Amino acid sequence: MDKQVKELVTFLNAAHSVYHATALLVKELENAGYTRLEEGESWSLIAGGKYYLTRGGTALISFRVPQGKPAGFMFSASHSDRPTFKVKENGEMTGAYTRLATEKYGGMIMATWLDRPLSIAGRALVETEKGIESRLVDIDRDLLLIPNVAIHMNRTVNDGYKWNPAVDLLPLMGGKNAKGKLDKLLSKAAGGKVLGHDLYLYVRQKASVWGVDNEFISAPALDDLECAWCCTQGYLNAEETDSIPVLCVFDSEEVGSASLQGAASRLLESAVSRICQALSLDKKIMLSHSFMVSADNAHAVHPNHPEYADALNAPVAGGGVVLKFNANQRYCTDGASAAIFRSICQKAGVPVQTYCNRADLPGGSTLGNISLSQVSVLTADIGLAQFAMHSSYETAGVKDVKYLSDAMAVYYSSRLQITHDRYELK
Ligand code: CO
Repeated sequence: MDKQVKELVTFLNAAHSVYHATALLVKELENAGYTRLEEGESWSLIAGGKYYLTRGGTALISFRVPQGKPAGFMFSASHSDRPTFKVKENGEMTGAYTRLATEKYGGMIMATWLDRPLSIAGRALVETEKGIESRLVDIDRDLLLIPNVAIHMNRTVNDGYKWNPAVDLLPLMGGKNAKGKLDKLLSKAAGGKVLGHDLYLYVRQKASVWGVDNEFISAPALDDLECAWCCTQGYLNAEETDSIPVLCVFDSEEVGSASLQGAASRLLESAVSRICQALSLDKKIMLSHSFMVSADNAHAVHPNHPEYADALNAPVAGGGVVLKFNANQRYCTDGASAAIFRSICQKAGVPVQTYCNRADLPGGSTLGNISLSQVSVLTADIGLAQFAMHSSYETAGVKDVKYLSDAMAVYYSSRLQITHDRYELK
């Protein structure tokens, strides 16, 4: 297996929650010598400095200061969260068995969560002598399962079934005497008294590379951890220019981005202002020579249902990075940002595919236009083509991992100058 794909598989197999995914990306940055900044302290930045900050343990921003006078930002944004189920407060329900009370987080394909081993990961807030500490928690064993009803009792299940998350999707944890055991498991995993938590279900199935020529990769949360990973690799492998490369990974995309850690928050705007202030740069001039790559996975034309794809803009898994277009700005790629991104991919030797919704199907949305409302720069919405978006186990094309990593390395090695409708990439 290709080294890049192997590393992605290792990442996916450990990224059991939005907290774990973010912590793993932070580790990549720390291994590469990046210094943590605190939002609650003043920043003194030096030429050649490499920095990152996090918010809430689920949003990440990293940037590098070039040696020369900076001329513009090169941003990318992806998301760390995925559709899943969140464990409720007072989460144990007893009867003939003990089940967990959960609620939906985001819009998942519900049937894909049944009849497979599940576990719990996230964070716990633990009481310590120095205050309340946030700690990663991962039960990391087959702990739960949501059993289907037998076909004999639900004869029409194959005619389409409407799942009720309050009834059909509560995971089984143990026998009738298991009440109280979740708290014990939690405090043991967290190493102290738990005062609060954000815990999510995850499927235990490992990532797999498969197909007659190993063309496909399947894993939980490919949307959008695949883009988050490839953008991070491209960011770390880029050469220095006189622009400021900025890597953003936001939380809450699956629930509309409106949170303290989401793309609709002031996090990026605040970071940009503080960078400009610390380096004595004119923010407005800087932003007018900046670019945003909003990277969130795209729909591949489905092998059994090609009719859902636009006839002329139907990307295939493994066929290259996808530029996404939508006339109503659900994707904010326009002619100029498409031309700039195409020219970057050309330089990287990476094929580009295009995606448009069928004109009679609404399609999804992503972070690009939301982040744009906070930091307004020319933006291209891109992604990697995948099947079964929001299934608990998604599938994409293996070749695209290298394509996006390579494209982002060239992107982050570039600077952009925009003068009166002329776009110069250096
Ligand atoms: Co997504």
